[in-house]
Amino acid sequence: MRKNELILVLDFGGQYNQLIARRVRECSVYAEVHPCTISIDKIRELSPKGIILTGGPESVYKENALTYDRELFNLGVPILGICYGSQLMAHLLGGRVEKADTSEYGHTEVTVEDKSSKLFAEVSKNTVCWMSHTDRITQAPEGFSVTASTANCPVAAMENAARKLYATQFHPEVAHTAEGAKMIRNFVRNICATKGDWQMGAFAKEEAERLKAKIGDGKALCALSGGVDSSVAATLLSKAIGKRLTCVFVDHGLLRKNEGDEVEAVFGKNGIVDVNFIRINAKDRFYAKLKGVTEPEKKRKIIGEEFIRVFEEEAKKIGKVDFLAQGTIYPDVIESGLNKSAVIKSHHNVGGLPDFVDFKEIVEPLRLLFKDEVRAVGRELGLSDALVNRQPFPGPGLGIRIIGEVTEEKVKIVQDADAIYREELEKAGAHKNLGQYFAALTNMRSVGVMGDGRTYDYAVALRAVETGDFMTAKSAYLPWEVLAKVTTRIVNEVKGVNRVFYDCTGKPPGTIEFE
Ligand code: XMP
Repeated sequence: MRKNELILVLDFGGQYNQLIARRVRECSVYAEVHPCTISIDKIRELSPKGIILTGGPESVYKENALTYDRELFNLGVPILGICYGSQLMAHLLGGRVEKADTSEYGHTEVTVEDKSSKLFAEVSKNTVCWMSHTDRITQAPEGFSVTASTANCPVAAMENAARKLYATQFHPEVAHTAEGAKMIRNFVRNICATKGDWQMGAFAKEEAERLKAKIGDGKALCALSGGVDSSVAATLLSKAIGKRLTCVFVDHGLLRKNEGDEVEAVFGKNGIVDVNFIRINAKDRFYAKLKGVTEPEKKRKIIGEEFIRVFEEEAKKIGKVDFLAQGTIYPDVIESGLNKSAVIKSHHNVGGLPDFVDFKEIVEPLRLLFKDEVRAVGRELGLSDALVNRQPFPGPGLGIRIIGEVTEEKVKIVQDADAIYREELEKAGAHKNLGQYFAALTNMRSVGVMGDGRTYDYAVALRAVETGDFMTAKSAYLPWEVLAKVTTRIVNEVKGVNRVFYDCTGKPPGTIEFE
């Protein structure tokens, strides 16, 4: 049982619930998202320092709308209701919630009416918030005062400070609410009176102890992809059980240039992490399976399945391994369906669980951490910045960055083009605010001229996106000189390419990857 101070996020199906938990953790306080069906006794047992009621897509008046026992408000625990959570608080405590004549959506100016409110300590009187609602509170419950308003929302925030109940119609958790982080911090640290005991150094140490106790003298196997999550999970496990951990790294021949060697340099013989490391060079098997296949989903499936086959074979060879370690992180846990939040695109992570390999137990040392926390743990464990700050890389690898059939020749083209692109962006410092940047190979060939000769070669597409959550993304503005330099280098240095495109599409309507 974790002993940290806890802020409980009660999930009513809103789209920003993960963000709320992240924002709380940014205040060094542990937050957990639970479905709104959790019992009040369970909440008492968890003994949270504060509770946040999330937004949600419903109306409190809708038949079977998600709700909660009003006893919640008598627990004496500070509560912050956000959007639907604020309406629910008003509704359950005798206020009035009505459909607004005009929905408010997007950036909205908000006026803080009560500067003495603890929630708005050090927040400007006139600030900007992010609204997204149709219903609104028209009358605060008895005992509550209105602490903020907007043009269309007379009760943009309300509170009953004596009962430690607070509510905002707007979303303080999203970055568009200019001073939202301050509001969350005011709630978490001041109103809930937390000390801030969620620190990654302590987590790493305690988790290693927990793993040691759990695995005892047993052996564990970890599927290592070279990505941040599995690398940090493996490192944590190696601290806990040393050489009783075996990492299996399947090189499917669809990795970025030199990536296999980079992974081996960290985890292999004489690497910085002391584990048993097995690298399987399975490129030929993957290419053979992918021969002639052009349909994206089919490619994904083949790569995923083949990965599992290889992994399974290795697991059998090692034998008698009781524990399978995975790099599952908290967003995966939340996205796989806590309750009503819409399920986000489910990706086949080829580093994922081969559920037909016979293990006694799965260990997921990072299942409670967000990505930035995983990175912090990695740093605590001594992994290099280059490894810890790696951009996400899809399990199917370059297989989904090559449109159409995957061939060895195409893999080489995309690896070389991608290496040049990354190198130049990094050299120019243009990569700093990018969530992901990579080259892909289109299936288009076109006529060009090089020297005095005609060419008929492939077009490479460059992609760079700004994104925090990878669910939506903006195509990044890159300096033209950098793009020009990358283009010149790619057409000159990568055989088989005579054109370079830059992808200006956002997500939606595009996705980040090409397939
Ligand atoms: P999309 O292309 O859906 O990608 O906009 C969103 C994020 O997910 C990564 N991605 C994957 N990761 N297996 C993975 O492990 C996959 O099949 C997969 N497909 C996409 C992608 O790189 C981006 O970060």
